[in-house]
Amino acid sequence: WPRTSSRADGSITIGGADVRDLVAEHGSPLYVVDEEDFRSRCRDYASAFSGGEVHYAGKAFLCREVARWIMQEGLGLDVCSAGELAVALSVGFPPERITMHGNNKSLAELEKAVEVGIGHIVADSFEEIARLGFLADKHGRRPKVMIRVTVGVEAHTHEFIATAHDDQKFGFSLSGGAAAEAARRILALPQLELVGLHSHIGSQITDTAGFEVAAARLATLLVKIKDEHGVVLPELDLGGGYGIPYVEGDTAPDVKEIADNLREIVSKVARGAGLPVPKLTVEPGRAIAGLAGVTLYEVGTIKDVEGLRTYVSVDGGMSDNIRTALYGAEYTARLASRESASAPMLSRLVGKHCESGDMVVRDLWLPADLATGDLIAVAGTGAYCRSLANNYNYLPKPAVVAVRDGVSRVIVRRETEDDLLRGQL
Ligand code: LLP
Repeated sequence: WPRTSSRADGSITIGGADVRDLVAEHGSPLYVVDEEDFRSRCRDYASAFSGGEVHYAGKAFLCREVARWIMQEGLGLDVCSAGELAVALSVGFPPERITMHGNNKSLAELEKAVEVGIGHIVADSFEEIARLGFLADKHGRRPKVMIRVTVGVEAHTHEFIATAHDDQKFGFSLSGGAAAEAARRILALPQLELVGLHSHIGSQITDTAGFEVAAARLATLLVKIKDEHGVVLPELDLGGGYGIPYVEGDTAPDVKEIADNLREIVSKVARGAGLPVPKLTVEPGRAIAGLAGVTLYEVGTIKDVEGLRTYVSVDGGMSDNIRTALYGAEYTARLASRESASAPMLSRLVGKHCESGDMVVRDLWLPADLATGDLIAVAGTGAYCRSLANNYNYLPKPAVVAVRDGVSRVIVRRETEDDLLRGQL
């Protein structure tokens, strides 16, 4: 429970605001973001990687206000669609501090990126390299391009979020030679400026060895490109993926240690080949947003399934947090609106959707006197919850409020029935 504190009556506060006041004012379910927590993690990354760059991965959670925080903290931003780019540009985010990713960017998305003068475009396919060449000519611009390299690291995380083994859709394979061929093709197009190499090995990774192997392999490719083409690429982008603790016993890598190790590994390879040390960029999403967010729910029905467990239903579920259903993700949750001295009961925190996979927390202990109307807080929901939210069963998406020094304000308003009907003929 980072930055929450128990009051005398046992209710909890987030960013200095009492959860009961938050729900009374803004309704339930509610996403709450501790602004200071979010910003302080931005600063931790920026200071650990000083001399390089930190680009917040917007897919973790992006809205206009978060884009402003990122801008004010001096970070860059990763986007992977025209929509994410539009959010950033709408608040005046400097395009030169934005990187565009994606394995299937449309021509329109690439054109927008080239037109606004985005900082980097990470090329992910041969078709895209050709398209970029065409668009650069058309707009008389020379976009900075990186190559997404599939470095062949087996990241120890859920299959759906591991991205550096060979058999998946992202990037150019290092072992198969596609990455070297991508460099050849980009260098053959003078209207494109090849500035570096990129890799992202997966998400929610807690064992840092994979990041280190990936960094060494990228640096080695940098040396090969110098040997083959005489071109010294000035940048390496090592992606994101730094894990966070969701439940007791989880470990998380230390950002300072990661930064020092990566710098050392890359410097060693570069210096060994007589090359200047490239600038390092990282792209954390979850590690910045994850622990800054808490979801508040109101307890509805409570069903005791004799001899098994108690099903506690809340007023949201897989529409506001699909991670439990999708990845078997684990969360820490607790009674948040009062203290209870009653015995713990084995519970399952479930949503209100029409399927039995709709769970928020699969197994947890909640007090036996839990009652309808109590508030439950689920920690660590700042990343990949609102951004993966959906309207299954026509549930409106909850509001997002930012809290700071005890004061809350809506940064994304709750959807209404009108929102749900909008666009339907
Ligand atoms: N850079 C690239 C190119 C990425 O694809 C991603 C995440 C990141 C950076 C940021 O990764 P992070 O630091 O947040 O781990 N929906 C899944 C996570 C998918 C991550 C996709 N790419 C989840 O809820 O766990």
